[in-house]
Amino acid sequence: NSWQGFSFFQCFLSGSPVDKDPKEYTTGGECPDVCDCPPTFPSAMYCDGRGLTTMPTFPSRVKYLYLQNNAITAVPDSAMVNATNLVWLILHNNQLTSEAIGKKAFLKLEGLERLYLQHNNLTSVPPNLPRSLRDLRISHNKIEKVFQGMDNLTILYLHDNAVTDMSTSLKALKSLTLLDLSGNNIFIDAQVPEALPEGLHQLYIEFNSIDSLPEGFLGRFTQLQYVRMAHNQLTDKGIPPNTFNVTGLVELDLSFNKLERIPPVSTTLHHLYLQANQIKEFTLGSFCSIVDVTNFSKLQTLRLDGNEISRQDIPSESSLCLRQASTIKV
Ligand SMILES: *[C@@H]1O[C@H](CO)[C@@H](O)[C@H](O)[C@H]1NC(C)=O
Ligand SMILES: *[C@@H]1O[C@H](CO)[C@@H](O)[C@H](O)[C@H]1NC(C)=O
Ligand SMILES: *[C@@H]1O[C@H](CO)[C@@H](O)[C@H](O)[C@H]1NC(C)=O
Ligand SMILES: *[C@@H]1O[C@H](CO)[C@@H](O)[C@H](O)[C@H]1NC(C)=O
Ligand SMILES: *[C@@H]1O[C@H](CO)[C@@H](O)[C@H](O)[C@H]1NC(C)=O
Repeated sequence: NSWQGFSFFQCFLSGSPVDKDPKEYTTGGECPDVCDCPPTFPSAMYCDGRGLTTMPTFPSRVKYLYLQNNAITAVPDSAMVNATNLVWLILHNNQLTSEAIGKKAFLKLEGLERLYLQHNNLTSVPPNLPRSLRDLRISHNKIEKVFQGMDNLTILYLHDNAVTDMSTSLKALKSLTLLDLSGNNIFIDAQVPEALPEGLHQLYIEFNSIDSLPEGFLGRFTQLQYVRMAHNQLTDKGIPPNTFNVTGLVELDLSFNKLERIPPVSTTLHHLYLQANQIKEFTLGSFCSIVDVTNFSKLQTLRLDGNEISRQDIPSESSLCLRQASTIKV
């Protein structure tokens, strides 16, 4: 229990005498001179703010190791040979880089519950973290590759998290075809398309608060077939012309937004969901700019119910353009 250590610490601070067998202070090895190992709290070792550049040696009895506010540059595997009892490892505000953390450094810390690594120079989450970990703090680093080494990941459900910005690039996921970011707090600026893997087939970003999209938002994703953006705050103004007029798209779900017009879409689109918007007119030109024998829309499903139009608003010449539509719901 991680709070046990905390209460001992409180005890020590308030100066209460803690009755301990003196032998316990030295079991498992000596305390290095540069650190403090209070006799009243033998499972803790304080080495914070000592100007250390390397990991100190430490006795195996230590459970709570305080190393913050130093200039430690590396945690080699060999530094952790006595670390079998560690419960807290506090390393924030150092100079650690990902390359300088041993592949097995944390592997054997089977009881580690708390690992503080914030304010270092890490570029990836350390590999082989113990499964016992409950509290991992790693903010204020340079992490780009959260999913480093997951080259073969094809499906990623990240929905219902607290993802806000996409500066943590997902681009390294070269094989990713399905990305579900629904139910987060995502906004989409001009940098976002760059941060996403190019080979996406399915992009689901429903239930966010997206009100606008950057120019050419979908242009980079040449394999994209399914785009679901229902339940956002999209307005006509927030959508640059031809954002959704991209060939290859099969399904586009823009239902439950704030659109007043039908956005132009490609003739190759099969399913378009626009229900529960504020659409006031049926613009045939959004589906077909030309109609002739070979130029017509492949649209099969069109949902327009829950808008401000009725069946009479659909012009009769629509049947030429939308000649494959089997379901038009108004
Ligand atoms: C491990 O503990 C031994 C004493 O048992 C000590 O001599 C040694 O320096 C310690 N090693 C490290 C890396 O902490
Ligand atoms: C960590 O990053 C800081 C600021 O970018 C830099 O000054 C420092 O040299 C880096 N340290 C290491 C060990 O890379
Ligand atoms: C990814 O898949 C390829 C081909 O199946 C395989 O050779 C490679 O080892 C896999 N990569 C990983 C990290 O498992
Ligand atoms: C979609 O874009 C193509 C050119 O890429 C253009 O010819 C067509 O008219 C556009 N469709 C609509 C409905 O604006
Ligand atoms: C219309 O069809 C002709 C062939 O009949 C084709 O060359 C042209 O690109 C088509 N136009 C559009 C906008 O799809």
